[in-house]
Amino acid sequence: MSLAWLLLFLTQILVVKYSEANIPALIVFGDSSVDSGNNNVLSTVLKSNFKPYGRDFEGGRATGRFCNGRIPPDFIAEAFGIKSTVPAYLDTAYSIKDFANGVNFASAGTGYDNATADVLKVIPMWKELEMYKEYQGKLKSHVGEEKAKEIIREALYLMSLGTNDFLENYYLIPNRRSQYSVTQYQDFLLGIADNFVRGLYALGARKLSITGLIPVGCLPLERTANFKGGHACNKEYNDVALSFNAKLDNLIAKLNKELPEIKVVSANAYSIVNDIITRPSAYGYEVADRACCSTGMFEMSYMCNEKNPFTCKDAEKYVFWDAFHPTEKTNRIVSTNLVTKLKAAFN
Ligand SMILES: *[C@@H]1O[C@H](CO)[C@@H](O)[C@H](O)[C@H]1NC(C)=O
Repeated sequence: MSLAWLLLFLTQILVVKYSEANIPALIVFGDSSVDSGNNNVLSTVLKSNFKPYGRDFEGGRATGRFCNGRIPPDFIAEAFGIKSTVPAYLDTAYSIKDFANGVNFASAGTGYDNATADVLKVIPMWKELEMYKEYQGKLKSHVGEEKAKEIIREALYLMSLGTNDFLENYYLIPNRRSQYSVTQYQDFLLGIADNFVRGLYALGARKLSITGLIPVGCLPLERTANFKGGHACNKEYNDVALSFNAKLDNLIAKLNKELPEIKVVSANAYSIVNDIITRPSAYGYEVADRACCSTGMFEMSYMCNEKNPFTCKDAEKYVFWDAFHPTEKTNRIVSTNLVTKLKAAFN
């Protein structure tokens, strides 16, 4: 009897191990919501490889993540039993040996629209895809053609972007606004998203998660700028996010129908982030309307620095780390929420 139990127990362990091994690698595209340090080597002003960024990361290292600690790809890779952090492709401290089970092509400040990447001289999405092609070549040399094909097919691909197209480009710079209504601009962006996924598919990707927009009108910077609305969340921006997400869901349904063997999951984080912002104390937060770093009202990148005396002591009490990005705690909650969905879809 006890032997039977032991065998059952061992089988359970094997089952768990086996199902984790279903995802051999995590491959990441997008903006600062998922960038783990690619901007460090660019000539952009949009960086975060200095203190207090990363003060709760392992070794207190400022890696270029726009956070006090880890970001969603790190938590997701960990949940799938892959590794606890996903390195940036352009970080020379890493090589194909490290990238074989997880690599990050994201660039803070980028968007679907090429013009968005131009604003702060960061990596446009077409170039993220070019870097991925280069990676495939390196992967084939490293593990061999057959194994590389398997990794490429079984890997989980994450896309997380769109915020900057609206907040850094459309609403800030007149050019796109003079060309497109906001509805037309949403459709323009989703046309690019459609092409991007088809490009990834042609390169072998079959498991994909696309994150739409969170309540971007509630980012501390947007509250600060909302003078008319008494520094509440900007409702117009939140409505744009909601309608963008609805259209993104339609696109995802279309892609699932049209592309054989692909599985695209909608990683909609709007509801969970909205719930956190609406009922922060239910999650153990004390502050949701301003960020931890500096005054918390507008600082990010170089303005969020070590010299500022106002930076909070305990980031776990804050929903947002800087005026545009969540704390590690928020990233953890959002990722846990998403992992449940991803495991149901891909295990
Ligand atoms: C973005 O730029 C790339 C490279 O110049 C180009 O191939 C692509 O068509 C552009 N995308 C759009 C939507 O204009």
